[in-house]
Amino acid sequence: MKTQVAIIGGGPSGLLLSQLLNKAGVATVILERSTRDHVLSRIRAGILEWGTVDLLREAGVGARMDAEGFPHDGCFLTDADMKVRIDFKELTGKQVMVYGQTEVTQDLYAAQDAMGTTIIHGVEDVTLNDLERAGSYVEYTLNGQRQRIDCDYIAGCDGFHGVSRKTIPEEKRREFERVYPFGWLGVLSRTRPADDELIYANSPHGFALASMRNAQLSRYYIQVPLTDKPEDWSDDAFWTELKRRLPSEVAATMETGPSIEKSIAPLRSFVSEPLRWGNLFLVGDAAHIVPPTGAKGLNLAASDVFYLYQALIEALKGNTSGIDAYSELALRRIWKAMRFSWQMTTMLHRFEGEDSFSEQMRRATLDHLAHSETARRELAENYIGLPF
Ligand code: FAD
Ligand code: DHB
Repeated sequence: MKTQVAIIGGGPSGLLLSQLLNKAGVATVILERSTRDHVLSRIRAGILEWGTVDLLREAGVGARMDAEGFPHDGCFLTDADMKVRIDFKELTGKQVMVYGQTEVTQDLYAAQDAMGTTIIHGVEDVTLNDLERAGSYVEYTLNGQRQRIDCDYIAGCDGFHGVSRKTIPEEKRREFERVYPFGWLGVLSRTRPADDELIYANSPHGFALASMRNAQLSRYYIQVPLTDKPEDWSDDAFWTELKRRLPSEVAATMETGPSIEKSIAPLRSFVSEPLRWGNLFLVGDAAHIVPPTGAKGLNLAASDVFYLYQALIEALKGNTSGIDAYSELALRRIWKAMRFSWQMTTMLHRFEGEDSFSEQMRRATLDHLAHSETARRELAENYIGLPF
């Protein structure tokens, strides 16, 4: 088989990149390890920056998001009963969109099907070959048969555990990492959200987040030790712990019910530089991971796609200046989102064995936010997303 851009990974980055390239007349093939059902069953991010919203519209997949998503003007940060509202709309003129990653992925698969793109599921043992010269190719196994795709460029959109990043020789890449000593236990429930807006809650018992998907579907997270397993947490135990961490007036009125999904994600900051090796370009989680506290993972994947798709279109016409600049340009935005996500994580979580000074620093940061519009604007500007 032959194509212009071979895309490894059919998650949000791979699908969005493919969709934007196809719209410009560039041929792609997507190779995905899992089944489509598996990709669509993963409950992950819930908040889209407006830059992501605009990019999805440009890709021709904005209709359902615009009809069913919820623009939000602000969110709350709390510590016990101290409550600070960050008014994005007033402070920056912008909003964010509540629309789940599952929905985005579903819309992208539908659009790619309509476009007739070849998406091959169930591939194994993907290898990327001859990346440093013309004539690059990808090999993979499907139903026991080895297959080959010849291509001009390869986009590594295969997430943190994918093969693309690891194909770059170790001496050619530099990795930066911080692993946090806790995870997030996430619960999806068919209940009315605790509030109209998201609540990021610090408390003496640890962090909690009250989020949502729609008026009848809530998404909650609590900070838990890395040793915990989802099955250690009964629904009752989860609701009791969540209510201890949210402001009492919210806890008193919130609706609880059976969980539909329960999972634990570890928290990590990670960047691998550079994002390019020869004809291979890394995109999204394949190159970087942020702790979810700033809602940046999916949005960073979208901004990488934004920088890369235009550069690839130009490169295929003979102008390579865009692909030459991709890594540096994307990394500048990635590092700023890394900083924001790390800062939000540090400000809102309890670290095991921390001293009383750290707790005071967290409370003082929130108190400062409560009384300084400048501090709130700085947070809002990062939360709604720095310009592409
Ligand atoms: P992925 O979504 O990881 O997609 C990569 C795809 O590549 C997968 O479908 C995988 O099956 C496929 N693949 C992997 N290896 C291969 C291979 N060798 N060959 C072929 N295909 C392969 N972000 C937030 O903003 N908020 C959240 O609440 C949040 N929660 C998260 C919870 C979890 C458990 C995880 C893992 C991430 C979460 N994120 C969250 C981050 C966000 O979901 C990611 O940033 C986003 O999914 C990145 O998209 P991606 O397409 O780059 O990678
Ligand atoms: C959601 C997840 C996040 O990490 C976040 O910061 C906000 C919302 C969510 O899944 O709804």
